[in-house]
Amino acid sequence: MSEPVRTEGLMPGRDWCPTVDTARCENPAAFVLFGATGDLTWRKLIPAIYSLTADDLLPCGLPIVCIGRRAGALGELTEWLREGVARFARKRPVDDALWKQIASRIQYVHGDLEDPATYDAIGEVFQWADQHCGGPIGRLFYLATPPEIFGTVFEQLKARGLVTSEATGERWSRVVVEKPFGRDLPSARELNRLVTGLLSEEQVYRMDHYLGKETVQNLAVLRFANSIFEPLWNERHIDHVQITMAESVGVEGRAGFYDAAGALRDVVQNHVLEMLALVAMEPPVAMDPDALRDEKLKVLRSLRPLSPEEIDLSVVRGQYGPGTVGGEEVFGYRQEPRVPADSRTETFVAMRVHIDNWRWGGVPFYLRAGKRLRRRETEIVVAFKPAPHLVFGGRRQGVRENRLTIRIQPNEGIRLCFAAKQPGPGLQIEPVPMEFYYARAFTHEPPEAYERLILDALTGDRTLFARGDGVEASWRFITPILRHWESCADGPPEYPSGSWGPPEADRLLQWTGHRWQNPDDEADACRCS
Ligand code: BG6
Repeated sequence: MSEPVRTEGLMPGRDWCPTVDTARCENPAAFVLFGATGDLTWRKLIPAIYSLTADDLLPCGLPIVCIGRRAGALGELTEWLREGVARFARKRPVDDALWKQIASRIQYVHGDLEDPATYDAIGEVFQWADQHCGGPIGRLFYLATPPEIFGTVFEQLKARGLVTSEATGERWSRVVVEKPFGRDLPSARELNRLVTGLLSEEQVYRMDHYLGKETVQNLAVLRFANSIFEPLWNERHIDHVQITMAESVGVEGRAGFYDAAGALRDVVQNHVLEMLALVAMEPPVAMDPDALRDEKLKVLRSLRPLSPEEIDLSVVRGQYGPGTVGGEEVFGYRQEPRVPADSRTETFVAMRVHIDNWRWGGVPFYLRAGKRLRRRETEIVVAFKPAPHLVFGGRRQGVRENRLTIRIQPNEGIRLCFAAKQPGPGLQIEPVPMEFYYARAFTHEPPEAYERLILDALTGDRTLFARGDGVEASWRFITPILRHWESCADGPPEYPSGSWGPPEADRLLQWTGHRWQNPDDEADACRCS
């Protein structure tokens, strides 16, 4: 028998939703959070709600309905959430009066997501909220839960009429689902089928928080608001492209999820391929949700499929062993709490991929992502072809290819590397950088990715969310790799924590005469600092 469902927070007599004034609210809504006692809620979602509230960007009096399984009273929940805000919110230190105001709008439905009574309790909260807020308000459901439960939640919400496919008056329903959307192509298709059977595609917001990062959004601006890059942005001028998403952290208490996922599912299928699509897509006809996502989809569909033999040659995996990161000794992956001692889960992936279309024919794209690497850095490197002829005879040593490095994080910025003459007699050539850094160029602090995306979902802007067909296209490319690894007798080789991954990842580039751009490579004048 599951525990009885409890609701705390609202109900007559409580001065809840005190500032709701629907005349002032253009977009009154409730934020309904499944997985409210999870890590994502603590580190990202509630801190984002706090910072948005501090910037006065949310619908006034936004009710926050938290649904979770962890036992405990509302007071304990809000205390724990406050701690997350104090540690992770962009707007810090916490303003007590502001937090009190947010906490007074938090509703805690404590129940099992399999239990229909939980949904009855949510329905009561809605009824109460509608009455209290002067009429039907919108509902933004956020599923920060493991994907296995998505289906149950959707079906229960629909069966109880808590989500409706059509908007009626002020009432709209939208559902945000966290990644990973499925485990492979069949499960992603199944999930899409289920979701779009209950709701329209327009109501589904598939979250990929990388799309909310300022620097990722800037990719489209860099390419399409400037006239100097686009004429060069093709196989005639670009030699190869590198995308690196390196993390210095390990699994950080998420072993349960991570060990069943691995790096390919966790970040490559979504974050890395989304960045690839933005770098490689054609100019969209407009920056509207469908135009942008149509172009990204074409890229994902043009990824050259890999046969098992090609996977062995062009995809490398690894698992972190013990080592030193940032001067600190750290465990290997298999020694992490709750990771099986014989785990074969990859924590590192590097691959060479091709986009078979007119723009990119013959240009290799090198992708890599991993945990416990030497530094945290995400960057995109566009390496241009060499000049067709050099007139400098023996004095050409310092001539390198031009490189444009787009630093996604940290120290966000862009660096263009080109050759210059060293001052002085004779002719000595050296690569030099031309740089732009956000922190120097703009004084205001950029919002966190989750802030931007929660706000977009509340206002109904889907541009920065993945579409169902795009998600399927990326799984179509990734799934054969997963299957092939499942059938291999060997697991991933170990790499020392604090390195740049297994040596096989370097060899992947060497045979084409390329090498990874690493930020700690002192000999590389074009690296970003
Ligand atoms: C998440 C992954 O999607 O992205 C995590 O599940 C990863 O494993 C995280 O650590 C990285 O995000 P960011 O914004 O810190 O680069």
